[in-house]
Amino acid sequence: MFAAQHGILNHELLAALAEARTQTDKLFALVKNDFLYERPIPERHRVVFYIGHLEAFDWNLLQGFIPQLQSFHPKFDRLFAFGIDPVDGGLPSDEPKDWPALAEVHRYRSRVRDLLDEVLESSAFWRSSYDGFSAATLLNVAVEHRLMHAETLAYMFHQLPLEQKIRQGSAPAHTVQPLEFGMVEIPAGRATLGLSRGESAFGWDNEFDAHEVRVPAFAIDRYKVTASTLNLSMRAATKTATSGRTRAGAGKSSRTWPILCSGSGGMAAGTTAPCSTNSHCHSTGLYS
Ligand SMILES: [Fe+2]
Repeated sequence: MFAAQHGILNHELLAALAEARTQTDKLFALVKNDFLYERPIPERHRVVFYIGHLEAFDWNLLQGFIPQLQSFHPKFDRLFAFGIDPVDGGLPSDEPKDWPALAEVHRYRSRVRDLLDEVLESSAFWRSSYDGFSAATLLNVAVEHRLMHAETLAYMFHQLPLEQKIRQGSAPAHTVQPLEFGMVEIPAGRATLGLSRGESAFGWDNEFDAHEVRVPAFAIDRYKVTASTLNLSMRAATKTATSGRTRAGAGKSSRTWPILCSGSGGMAAGTTAPCSTNSHCHSTGLYS
């Protein structure tokens, strides 16, 4: 039973890695080949770096633990090992010609995946422990790292001009039901934060240990704040700078906060006050 459960876990992790690779491959495929040496964000590497980096990270991570994985391209293992964090505003100055040809990077990617997959599919890999880390932990790190980059690549590519990207098919039409804004009351209680070390669930080092905290009752918006709502809020904050209510802010000085209301029932969301001259409609941004 225990072994069977682990078998399922291994299968799920391998599927998660395959899915994460598919996601990042799809992202890179959005950019026309001629523009893969662009640097959409001045503080970051050129796009081609990330094609190599996602593979080099997995390789360097696992190769450090598994002796049978012998490096076949040490230069690329180092070249694509680390991202950059510019210090004191200093921006990277490398040129496209400083980077290897795309075909070479793609060959590196394929070879890394072939060699790693061979190891990951062997039962010996899953039976072993690596310097105190389980095989599952190592693979979780690889998957999480890749998905984190999928997110940053998405906003990086958003900075590229449209003509440098490959047009995608239209997104399927979908109907959005009108949302009922409001607050959800959460009663006081105890919450467990973090993970205990005995749990099999994966966690980053700063997510340990588990501990309990007492949380007083509070209310929270039913939905996340959208960009448009925030925009309305900022506009209202400007409007109410001289006439709005004043509440104590988080800092030393008090600040003026707009009061949002749902616009539907006449009650201000997040407050018990009805719409008033100090409230503006959540839907229209107009004062009620
Ligand atoms: Fe990274």
